[in-house]
Amino acid sequence: MSHHGLFISFEGIDGAGKSTHIDSLANAFRSEGQVVTLTREPGGTFLAEKLRSLVLEQAMDPLTESLLIFAARRDHVVRVIAPALLRGEVVLCDRFSDATFAYQGAGRGFDLDVLATLERWVQADEGLLGDPAGNQPMKPEVETVIEPDLTIWFDLPPEDAALRLAGSRIPDRFESQPVEFFRRVAQGYAERQRDHVERIAQIDASQARDVVWQCVLQTVVEKGWLQATAQS
Ligand code: TMP
Repeated sequence: MSHHGLFISFEGIDGAGKSTHIDSLANAFRSEGQVVTLTREPGGTFLAEKLRSLVLEQAMDPLTESLLIFAARRDHVVRVIAPALLRGEVVLCDRFSDATFAYQGAGRGFDLDVLATLERWVQADEGLLGDPAGNQPMKPEVETVIEPDLTIWFDLPPEDAALRLAGSRIPDRFESQPVEFFRRVAQGYAERQRDHVERIAQIDASQARDVVWQCVLQTVVEKGWLQATAQS
């Protein structure tokens, strides 16, 4: 690795119940003296949060949606994620590129090859992370992509997620999609996990909340990044 930080992302369909566990994991890392950057996508910077509002509220075609999400991601990677990793922090990000492959790719039916090209451009390191010898910018010709060290996928049947979401708040452009959309998104996550089995850990999010938390904690402990006794 060319930096000393740790990058963990969290994924799942809307209603899968990621949020409380992300907060608990942040507390667990802090209880062991680590500095945590807690962030989300789309969002995480002034510009990216503006783009988030547009993407969640305005009607637009799938290409526009994908480009705005990747534009938000570029700003987030450059301004927040890469600097935090260079400082050696733990970056916990509520969603990252896997969401784009699941929602825009599988959900909206947008071309996966185009998404892969955009991913390579947007997450290109291009000297954002230093080299192992001394945090100096890497040579531009060395092609590396900034991606999570671990992704925790909260897997929940779309029907269960719809029940959890029902009546909780005014739905945005994604939350108001029919259950068929979320079946495709869930399928997209499953395919992504099969293709990145080393990086993406699947957790059964239909279990009781404290059981799900134990699975999250255990996944990180098994990586050697936290003690089993970490406080949440
Ligand atoms: P959130 O409610 O979990 O913060 O996510 C916001 C919504 O944005 C969620 O419905 C999923 C959607 N989304 C995409 O469609 N593509 C993406 O790449 C990301 C990061 C989120």
